[in-house]
Amino acid sequence: MKQINRPEITKEELLQALNFASNQVIENLEDYTHHFQTIYTDGNFYNKMENVEWTTGFWTGEVWLAYEHTGDERCKEAGMVHMKSFLDRIDRKIDVDHHDMGFLYSPSCVAGYKLIGSSIGKEAALKAAKQLVSRFQPKGEFIQAWGKMGEKNNYRFIIDCLMNLPLLYWAYEETKDETFREVAEKHITTTMKYVIREDGSTWHTFFFDPETGAPDHGATKQGYRDGSAWGRGQAWGIYGSAMAYRYTGREEYIETFKRVTEYYLSHLPTDIVPYWDLEFQQGSVQPRDSSSGVIAVCGMLEMVKYLPSEDQEFYRSTAKRLLKVLYDECAVKDREVSDGLLLHGTYSKKSKYNQCSNHGIDECNAWGDYFYMEALVRLLKTWEPYW
Ligand code: GLY
Repeated sequence: MKQINRPEITKEELLQALNFASNQVIENLEDYTHHFQTIYTDGNFYNKMENVEWTTGFWTGEVWLAYEHTGDERCKEAGMVHMKSFLDRIDRKIDVDHHDMGFLYSPSCVAGYKLIGSSIGKEAALKAAKQLVSRFQPKGEFIQAWGKMGEKNNYRFIIDCLMNLPLLYWAYEETKDETFREVAEKHITTTMKYVIREDGSTWHTFFFDPETGAPDHGATKQGYRDGSAWGRGQAWGIYGSAMAYRYTGREEYIETFKRVTEYYLSHLPTDIVPYWDLEFQQGSVQPRDSSSGVIAVCGMLEMVKYLPSEDQEFYRSTAKRLLKVLYDECAVKDREVSDGLLLHGTYSKKSKYNQCSNHGIDECNAWGDYFYMEALVRLLKTWEPYW
């Protein structure tokens, strides 16, 4: 197993980091209670945005994490304003024709329901879960990620969607409606069967034949090329397989988690800050993506709960070592530098093989900030996940 040859982050550093992050969030409330933060920063500072895109739940998630850490009532009040906005969004079907209902509604509305018993949070999250179920494709048994339902060139799922499924398990627990759980289980089974490659690397997306439901081919959207491992996709695979195990209890997903994590760790550069695609190695001038690192840290810390003790030690220590590097190299420590939390993320990067445009390169982004904070909370407290 590949170990990171760096020290672990210390308890003092964790506390200092979470105090700073919580203060940043609280200072940002003045601008971002009735608005949301943009997907990524511009020159390391966020701008205001309405509740659109797939990312606004992360900002609310940071507000809830700051509330849990500080008990500051201003966070609770902002969280309540945000949940009303999320209810309005799902009621009016604003930018919800895609699969990212979990990213949007778990850290915002499920969190608000779990933390303060919000009925608005519960109503919004249940409606979002139904919306997610509506994207299930029985032919192929997967949740279609984007685009018009059934369209041939959109007939695919993506690895990221594993993180949307806890919303369905939560909805099942609340309603006992088996549909939520069945759709989640089928999607997990399909994902695990087709998205993990022989060597533990992952496809970002996988297509099916809309006529027959037969598996067709893997492809990338945000990675460098089809056969490479998009860094954040691999990290979604780490956290996603931990979640898949948590909710299904299927032993084989422990092995999947280990293989996907090993591939990620053994393809980090020697300075450990992940490149946006794991193809790139030390010395490359390609941008980094710190957000993939914190997602991987959270995934390892989730999985530690279910592993035998000899494995627990390895993954907890690895998570702390990776977080130490990200804290040293990427964490914002001065509000003059940024109003975000984690520098050096990449949203999307154009390559000669993909169809992406350049967005949010070497910037903070909503999920990088959120999962950085989640990682700190996970290491400082016994935390009840929003996922
Ligand atoms: N889930 C979309 C992304 O990671 O960019």
